[in-house]
Amino acid sequence: MAFDIDMIKKVYANMAERVDAARSIVGKPLTLSEKILYAHLWDGKPTKAYTRGKDYVDFAPDRVACQDATAQMALLQFMQAGKSKVAVPTTVHCDHLIQAKSGAEADLKHANSTSSEVFNFLESVSNKYGIGFWKPGAGIIHQVVLENYAFPGGMMIGTDSHTVNAGGLGMVAIGVGGADAVDVMAGMAWELKFPKLIGVRLTGKLSGWTAPKDVILKVAEILTVKGGTGAIVEYFGPGALSMSCTGKGTICNMGAEIGATTSTFGYDDSMERYLRATDREDVADEANRIKEYLTADPEVYANPEQYFDQVIDINLSELGPLLNGPFTPDLSTTVGAEMTEKAKSNEWPMKVEWGLIGSCTNSSYEDLSRASSIAQQALDKGLKTKAEFGINPGSEQVRYTAERDGILQVFEKLDAKIFTNACGPCIGQWARYSDPKNAPKNSIVHSFNRNFAKRADGNPNTHAFVASPEITAAIAIAGRLDFNPMTDTLINENGEEVMLDEPTGWELPPKGFEVKENGYLAPVADGSKVEVTVKPDSERLQLLTPFKPIGDSIKGAKLLIKAFGKCTTDHISMAGPWLRFRGHLDNIANNTLIGAVNAFNKKTNFVKNQLTGDYGGVPDTQREYKKNGIWSVVVGDHNYGEGSSREHAAMQPRHLGVAAVIVKSFARIHETNLKKQGMLGLTFANESDYDLIQEDDTFNFLDLNEFAPDKQLHIEVVHTDGTKNVIALNHTYNDAQIEWFKEGSALNLIKKQNA
Ligand code: F3S
Repeated sequence: MAFDIDMIKKVYANMAERVDAARSIVGKPLTLSEKILYAHLWDGKPTKAYTRGKDYVDFAPDRVACQDATAQMALLQFMQAGKSKVAVPTTVHCDHLIQAKSGAEADLKHANSTSSEVFNFLESVSNKYGIGFWKPGAGIIHQVVLENYAFPGGMMIGTDSHTVNAGGLGMVAIGVGGADAVDVMAGMAWELKFPKLIGVRLTGKLSGWTAPKDVILKVAEILTVKGGTGAIVEYFGPGALSMSCTGKGTICNMGAEIGATTSTFGYDDSMERYLRATDREDVADEANRIKEYLTADPEVYANPEQYFDQVIDINLSELGPLLNGPFTPDLSTTVGAEMTEKAKSNEWPMKVEWGLIGSCTNSSYEDLSRASSIAQQALDKGLKTKAEFGINPGSEQVRYTAERDGILQVFEKLDAKIFTNACGPCIGQWARYSDPKNAPKNSIVHSFNRNFAKRADGNPNTHAFVASPEITAAIAIAGRLDFNPMTDTLINENGEEVMLDEPTGWELPPKGFEVKENGYLAPVADGSKVEVTVKPDSERLQLLTPFKPIGDSIKGAKLLIKAFGKCTTDHISMAGPWLRFRGHLDNIANNTLIGAVNAFNKKTNFVKNQLTGDYGGVPDTQREYKKNGIWSVVVGDHNYGEGSSREHAAMQPRHLGVAAVIVKSFARIHETNLKKQGMLGLTFANESDYDLIQEDDTFNFLDLNEFAPDKQLHIEVVHTDGTKNVIALNHTYNDAQIEWFKEGSALNLIKKQNA
């Protein structure tokens, strides 16, 4: 059903030859991360050494995974590629669009009615193009991937930042934007800057109340939310060997919170146990055959300082449970006295109102069993829980097995809400309040990964603290942020003082995993007859039509906006309520650049319409230009388009008729996204020319017919007083990217090549 053993065998068959070639070219022993990267070069066997943090390299990932929110535009684009099937194994997982409110059954029913149009669309596209489809309620993408698809030494990309979770099973798994996923699904290479490498040496052993979650909470404290940027974090050492595979997944999952490209662990016994327990004996057997290629060369871990760009040491025996937050995952506080002090001085509400266990970060069988061992004590010792419990299991397999083994019932006896096997509160899909904006200040503790303001419940006053499932359970029972289960007593129903014992649990279910209906739908072998229908009046979905080439004679283009200061992808295509329209390009285009500050009046969404002289919103003004057959130009400052890799930030201006974005400098991913959509992404050769641009300017491109790599372009800027400036513009287009521009988009070119 699920994984593709032939594909894995193929990857492993090449591994030795490619890794050995890489080792001799690089001229030194290799880390695991390097082995996986060099084994997945688009061009096959390595022929040169790449410079970390500098060289852009083309890779050939083994798999793609998409979640329901991001899959919509990704699949709509893929449909434009003219392919009959995806080029690499791909899955779609329905987990983000399910709100947590009353409990699994009612919530799933509600989601299936409110988002049926989107789910049906994703299901039929998956069926048509050979994509595995996981229905709503089947589980959270990253837990399902770990259980079914991740394999040691593999490389995958996914349209979700926590794709990195699969590092727990020894993969290099990276979160990307939809456009990148589409490239790989369509059979193209995937480009990544060769990452830097951070080694984390784990010594000692976890014990008592300390859990794998505390390792990553500690790493977040050390590296902060930016410290992993552009790097793969590779964990090793005796402490790594002593941890479960799903525990390793937790650590890798939250690598996203330190900005890391991804995180990974070398293949070991815990991974073998997990593979065998999840019905993948053959993957374990194959991995055992090439074990030495699925971990770093021995010299690396013996002398890591020589081979990593940075090395961090953590002694697990000395690590204690941590609570990270509020509002940022890198603000660490030790459970107990330190929290008492910090909470008081910062006026964090001491009373804890909810304890939430689950999400893609901590929803394994081990997590639930250890947390339930604490919950069971509340029942056994006559304690009444002070906070409410919410549980969202990671997959139907985990849920079914945990129910069979009586684990969920323990929580239910404490009146816990068992939510759908889906993201729920982890992505703000939690109907906790009717009016979240005006909800009171409060504290919650959860075992999720992100805790910035409003993330869980939309309430800016909710102080969310991230902890292990065990500590989350203990704090929910005590109802106090500063509760230290290692030293503090609680008063039970009979007025007696009791203490909670250390958590216990099972790494894997003693009676094995079990599931009746896992929620997986395999695609039909021949999808050519499958019809994908989208209602013409749909608000949420719109089939795409190919962009027409902009052409090489842009004359009389109008300035749409000269953006002042920071202009991130959020300013270009706002999130929040707009996400509802992420599968409908025309509707979501109504948020285009509404967050960008107009340099001429310092207002947002207030620009001059050069046709009427009136001021209005950016999308409306742009639609006027489009209606009149006039191209437009967006001008921007430094690092334009930083933020997420969201392809909407390029597709929307393109859809509305923006021909060129001219800035002082680009965030590279956004620049590439503009190129993919067949637009011009250009930079001022002379930065100060930004100051020449005036509100009523018109642009004539002078030499676009000579567009070539490494050759400047020139535009004539015509001001209303009749004066003109000719400005030189730089670009980074290579030959292939110029073809994208000429064809109207990268997808148009793929389609032409497939014809
Ligand atoms: Fe994202 Fe869902 Fe995990 S929201 S963080 S994938 S639980």
